[in-house]
Amino acid sequence: MDSKIVLQNVTKEIELTSSQDELQKVKVTYLGKKGKITELLKSLKDLSIDEKKSKGAEINLLREKVQLLFEKKSKNLKTLEINSKLKNEFLDITFPPPDFSDAKVHPISKTFNEVVSIFGTMGYTIAEGPDIETDFFNFSALNIPEDHPAREMQDTFYIDNKDDDGNPLVLRTHTSPVQIRTMLNQKPPIKIIAPGRTYRCDSDSTHSPMFHQVEGLFINENANMGNLKGTLIEFCKEFFEVEDLKVRFRPSYFPFTEPSAEMDIAYEVIDNKLQIGKGKKWLEILGCGMVNPIVLENCKLDSSKYQGFAFGMGLDRITMLKHGLTDIRSFFNGNLNWLSKHGFNIGDF
Ligand code: PHE
Repeated sequence: MDSKIVLQNVTKEIELTSSQDELQKVKVTYLGKKGKITELLKSLKDLSIDEKKSKGAEINLLREKVQLLFEKKSKNLKTLEINSKLKNEFLDITFPPPDFSDAKVHPISKTFNEVVSIFGTMGYTIAEGPDIETDFFNFSALNIPEDHPAREMQDTFYIDNKDDDGNPLVLRTHTSPVQIRTMLNQKPPIKIIAPGRTYRCDSDSTHSPMFHQVEGLFINENANMGNLKGTLIEFCKEFFEVEDLKVRFRPSYFPFTEPSAEMDIAYEVIDNKLQIGKGKKWLEILGCGMVNPIVLENCKLDSSKYQGFAFGMGLDRITMLKHGLTDIRSFFNGNLNWLSKHGFNIGDF
């Protein structure tokens, strides 16, 4: 094909492009491995030496011209792109920043901090564990064997994947697996709390599929039920800010504690407001007990030497009770109006 015609065609085609992509496509059809100009260069091999010289020089010149055309157009397109970005993505640096003086602390964060601080003054340190747990830590090591009805009590979210060793995985249904992780890694005396997220397949005004618990664990050679009661009563007095607090411990059952109990605090409703600490009605607030020797042995601790207590409490629940909130779902639906009403000022945090 005549070089002039090729030049005319490619010039037109380049003109019509409006993006780097389109330009690149045209470039390939002329200068690519099988492009028109490349083919012209290849066809030189069939010509005589003289023809090769003149035709060769002509096609090389054509190629250089075409390359320049592509470069020029590419530059133009880039400039256009930048200009359009400058026009459309205009950033107004004089725009005033959001007003953070209105920011509020979420009630759960406030409770979280209070709980850590109260137990902190009693010498408890914080322990953590993963939200996605193995069946072993969440159940088996806590003396909840497979097929045990206690597994049904905690509507579990099972996960399809298994861990690297092929163990079934669950979203932890309580913070008690952190007890196991701690006892396997630390020698007594152990004195920890484990606050964090927990998950159960349950949803209504007092249950959320994701909620928060704090676990407590105290192990030494002589910790007893009296220490457990004293610790929890002290905590509740501090947390609910009630000096004269009426409580009761009711016998209960947990596979990982023996004996087990549930702690209730007294309440009454005065002028539509919940008064914590006195009155004739009872609110259940936590589960607790002496760590079952089977669990100590599962964690390679000598149960003839060590003993201790554990407790587990719903952080959302105690937050609702303390601040008179009635729907747990309002904690988690991201409603800023709700937060500005029920949240706390950063200074009070
Ligand atoms: N893990 C229990 C629950 O979620 C609470 C608990 C913790 C009870 C520690 C006893 C001891 O219901």
